[in-house]
Amino acid sequence: MNEENKAKVDAIIRKWSGKRGALIMALHELQGQFGYVPWEEALYLGQELGIPMAKIYECLTFYNYFKVKAPGKYVISVCDGTACHIKGGASLIEELEKELGVPAGATTDDGLFYVQVVRCLGCCGLAPVMVINGVTYGKLTTDKIKSIINEWRAKEGN
Ligand code: FES
Repeated sequence: MNEENKAKVDAIIRKWSGKRGALIMALHELQGQFGYVPWEEALYLGQELGIPMAKIYECLTFYNYFKVKAPGKYVISVCDGTACHIKGGASLIEELEKELGVPAGATTDDGLFYVQVVRCLGCCGLAPVMVINGVTYGKLTTDKIKSIINEWRAKEGN
């Protein structure tokens, strides 16, 4: 796990440590950040929260809401929580759908991008917010979407 991911998981741990329903809420937030629940991060989270590996596995397999595999090479989490919605989160979602040609909740045909709408990414001060594979784009406007997506496409030589 790289330092950036560790910092994200640490923030989730700080938020949920000692609270009721911590595991489910923390896994939910982990999926919000990464688009799925990466196993290494989930294990670290469990270790820090004092939850055994078997319990995490049980939780991930019991609730089919949780995705344990990345649904696309680049997972785009776009926030439509209250703070982001007020500042135009819905128009970001529309713009992304237009740019990628798939609705939220789907993966592009080339398997590169998966878009998910989340309720809060924990950085409301930056609203509206989008995260792509752990990279945060805050105070985002629709006119920036195309160039951001193109930067990620360029990594593929497209
Ligand atoms: S509502 Fe979007 S980051 Fe909190």
